[in-house]
Amino acid sequence: MVPQFLFSASFILFFLYCPPILAQSPAAAPAPAGPTNVTKVLEKGGQFSVFIRLLKATQEDVTLNGQLNNTNNAITIFAPSDNAFSSLKSGTLNSLNDQEKAELVQFHIIPQFLSSSQFQTVSNPLTTQAGSGGRLELNVTTTGNSVNITTGLTNTSVSGTIYTDNQLAVYQVDKVLLPLDIFTPKPPTPAPAPEKPKKRSKAAASPESPADASGAVSFAVLNNVVFFGVCMVAAIYSL
Ligand SMILES: *[C@@H]1O[C@H](CO)[C@@H](O)[C@H](O)[C@H]1NC(C)=O
Ligand SMILES: *[C@@H]1O[C@H](CO)[C@@H](O)[C@H](O)[C@H]1NC(C)=O
Ligand SMILES: *[C@@H]1O[C@H](CO)[C@@H](O)[C@H](O)[C@H]1NC(C)=O
Ligand SMILES: *[C@@H]1O[C@H](CO)[C@@H](O)[C@H](O)[C@H]1NC(C)=O
Ligand SMILES: *[C@@H]1O[C@H](CO)[C@@H](O)[C@H](O)[C@H]1NC(C)=O
Repeated sequence: MVPQFLFSASFILFFLYCPPILAQSPAAAPAPAGPTNVTKVLEKGGQFSVFIRLLKATQEDVTLNGQLNNTNNAITIFAPSDNAFSSLKSGTLNSLNDQEKAELVQFHIIPQFLSSSQFQTVSNPLTTQAGSGGRLELNVTTTGNSVNITTGLTNTSVSGTIYTDNQLAVYQVDKVLLPLDIFTPKPPTPAPAPEKPKKRSKAAASPESPADASGAVSFAVLNNVVFFGVCMVAAIYSL
C-alpha cells in the first residue's frame, strides 16, 4: 500500500512538474532561432545607412526577412558601406527608376550561403537575387586572404564580415557593385532582333494572306462589275 501510494504520488508530481518543464524547452528554442532581421544586422554594422534605406525603399527588407523565416533559404549579402555609395558618381542613384533600384539592391544578394572558406571553391558566375544571365551575375575569386568580386564594371574585394550564421552571411564591400544590366547600354541585337522578325513573320503570315484574299475577292467583284457593264453596253448597242 505504501509503495503504491508513493508511486501514485510521484506519478502525480511528474505531471504537476513536467508540463512546465516540457513547455519551457520548446519556448527556449525558437527565441534565439527566430528569423534573422537583416535590417537589424546591418544597423548593428553601423555604416550601412544608405543600403538600409534602399532595402526599405524597394521592400527588399521584407522579402529578405520573409525568406530567412524559412530555414531552407540561405542568403549571402555584399553590403556596400556608406562610403561606397558616397564615392559613386553623383546622381547615380537618382538616375535610376524604381525597378532599377530594386535590381541594384538585389544584385548585392546571392541566394546561397557562402562562408569565407566557400569563396575559394565557388563556381562562377554567381547568380544574384536580381537574376541570372551575364548582365546580372558576378564573379568571386580569391587570392590569398583577399576575396575579389567583379561584375564586369566594378572590381572590389570583401573588406569585412558583418554577420554570419549557417543561413545568412553579410560581408562589407567598399564599392557599390554595378551590374552591367543597368549601367551599360543594352546591346541592340539581343533584345529587338528576336522580336522584329517575329512581328515581320507574323505580318507576313497572317495579315498578308487575308489581304491577298480580299484583293482577289475585290478583283473578282470588279471583274464581274466590268463584265456586267460590258454586257449592258453591248445589250444597249444591240438594241
Ligand atoms: C527589423 O528591425 C528593424 C530595426 O531594427 C525594425 O524596424 C523592423 O520592424 C524589424 N523587422 C521585423 C520583421 O522584425
Ligand atoms: C514565420 O513563418 C511562420 C510560419 O510560416 C509565421 O507564422 C510567422 O508569422 C513568420 N514570422 C515572420 C516574422 O515573418
Ligand atoms: C584581388 O584584389 C587585390 C586587391 O584588392 C589584387 O591585388 C589582386 O590582384 C586581385 N586578385 C585577382 C585574382 O583579381
Ligand atoms: C565570370 O566568370 C565566367 C566563368 O569563369 C566568365 O566566363 C566571365 O567572363 C566572368 N565575368 C566577369 C565579369 O569576370
Ligand atoms: C577589373 O579587373 C580586371 C582583371 O583583374 C581588369 O581586366 C579590368 O579592367 C578591371 N575593371 C575595372 C573596371 O577596374
